[in-house]
Amino acid sequence: MQEIIYVLDFGSQYSHLITKRIREAGVVAELVSPDFPIDKLAQSKGIIFSGGPQNLSEKTALRVDKRVFDLGVPILGICYGMQLTAFELGGKVKAGKTSEYGATAVTIIKSSRILKNLSKSQKVWMSHGDQVMKLPKGFVNIAGSKNCPIAGMENAKNRIYCLQFHPEVKHTVNGKIIIENFLKITGVKKNWSMQSFINDSIKDIRKQIGNDRAVCALSGGVDSAIAATLVYRAIGENLTCIYVDTGLMRKGETDQLKKVFKNHLKMNLRIIYAEKEFLKKLKGITEPEKKRKTIGELFIRIFEKEARKLSRTKWLVQGTLYTDRVSSGVSIGGKHTAVIKSHHNVGGLPEKFGFKLIEPLRDLYKYEVRKVGDKLGLPKKITYRMPFPGPGLAVRIIGEVTKEKLEILRHADQITTEEMNKTNFSNDPQFFYFVVLPDIRSVGLQGDARTYGRPIILRALDTAEFLTADWVHLPYSLLEKISTRITNEVKGINRVVYDITSKPPGTVEWE
Ligand code: XMP
Repeated sequence: MQEIIYVLDFGSQYSHLITKRIREAGVVAELVSPDFPIDKLAQSKGIIFSGGPQNLSEKTALRVDKRVFDLGVPILGICYGMQLTAFELGGKVKAGKTSEYGATAVTIIKSSRILKNLSKSQKVWMSHGDQVMKLPKGFVNIAGSKNCPIAGMENAKNRIYCLQFHPEVKHTVNGKIIIENFLKITGVKKNWSMQSFINDSIKDIRKQIGNDRAVCALSGGVDSAIAATLVYRAIGENLTCIYVDTGLMRKGETDQLKKVFKNHLKMNLRIIYAEKEFLKKLKGITEPEKKRKTIGELFIRIFEKEARKLSRTKWLVQGTLYTDRVSSGVSIGGKHTAVIKSHHNVGGLPEKFGFKLIEPLRDLYKYEVRKVGDKLGLPKKITYRMPFPGPGLAVRIIGEVTKEKLEILRHADQITTEEMNKTNFSNDPQFFYFVVLPDIRSVGLQGDARTYGRPIILRALDTAEFLTADWVHLPYSLLEKISTRITNEVKGINRVVYDITSKPPGTVEWE
């Protein structure tokens, strides 16, 4: 049986990060709900309690099956996870005099295996109001900060370790060492790698699909491209890919896809050119959700028509990711599995067509998927491509979508991409940018003549998994270059404005 660490999700915005850090260390980890079956927890190598927004004095606070403490499996409680451990085992938790948020200095009071190889004073990330006031029986205090005297505790005999701060967050300078220390305590084998994932997946896919045929809707995005390539490795020409060119794509995308998948990888790829149909259906539609629905429905209709032509096809390949299935921060405690924001699923094709679903990337994070793409030999242009919404440029054109507006936006997008590619920003996997064409006009002056043109909105973000995002302080020189080029080269544009809104309060896309 595969050795695994389970992370019980009490709803912290950092829960996914814990799982990620463990996987980065080469160990299989999964985020599960606090009521995950105890017999499964018993078979794991280690259990981590995540942080969470709740308050133990409230009845609704998420709790844990107390038998977990008697399993003999090492436990790491983080933030709320520490408070919960103290509470369940007879300690006391209360609101501290002062809350602690952000970078905080912590002093190690007693040497502990969880804090091994660390110097006495540590810079860590805190985010809490409550704190442990009295240790539970059998525990000793191992660390403290100015406002939180019990910032760490352990019961070394039972291998239960707790930290009030967040080792998974990069602002905890030595967080990685702490996670490694916990993994050493558990004795778990480090055998999770992208290569082992690929080998196992190929075997599983072959077994599952057998001699049947499968179909995959390539969207032009990273996930469907890599899912298709993986399945292609497993079943070869029994896979057919269908790509619908909606006319809402960025410049050159269809050609690139054709080059890589058809010419280079030699996959069965059918391209349906459907720009006209999409524009006709979108005529007069301005409301964002209506746009999405219209595009989604037409896409499915076209795909279905094409897929029906394929004989013996029983399987539908989808590039669903782990974060599509479990999206922490949306609701508390892992209860939210399988809830995907409906609008993020436009390219998704329901099972009702009678296909059986195969989702080879369902346990992976985006950065892991990219590594799979690298290992499968896909070009960086595909694997490191920025995510692109299913409805494409239609949700970056505010108001009605027309061919003329699409061309304007595509041109501005191309210029922006060219300029961004000259900078180091484009090598940062967290960097995301795009341009928007709003439905307004303004007066300008170009070549001594009055213009009444449109603006282009530039948006650049730093984001890990798109749940939150910070606007990026792009250098003025870069902004200037992009603005000058767009206003000079894109007909009809007389202004460029920069969006300085993070998510929240904004969303990533404008619609
Ligand atoms: P928001 O705008 O919700 O975007 O903050 C978060 C991420 O999702 C992408 N996005 C979409 N993806 N269909 C998709 O497939 C959509 O309708 C859609 N809307 C937003 C967005 O680009 C960002 O990566």
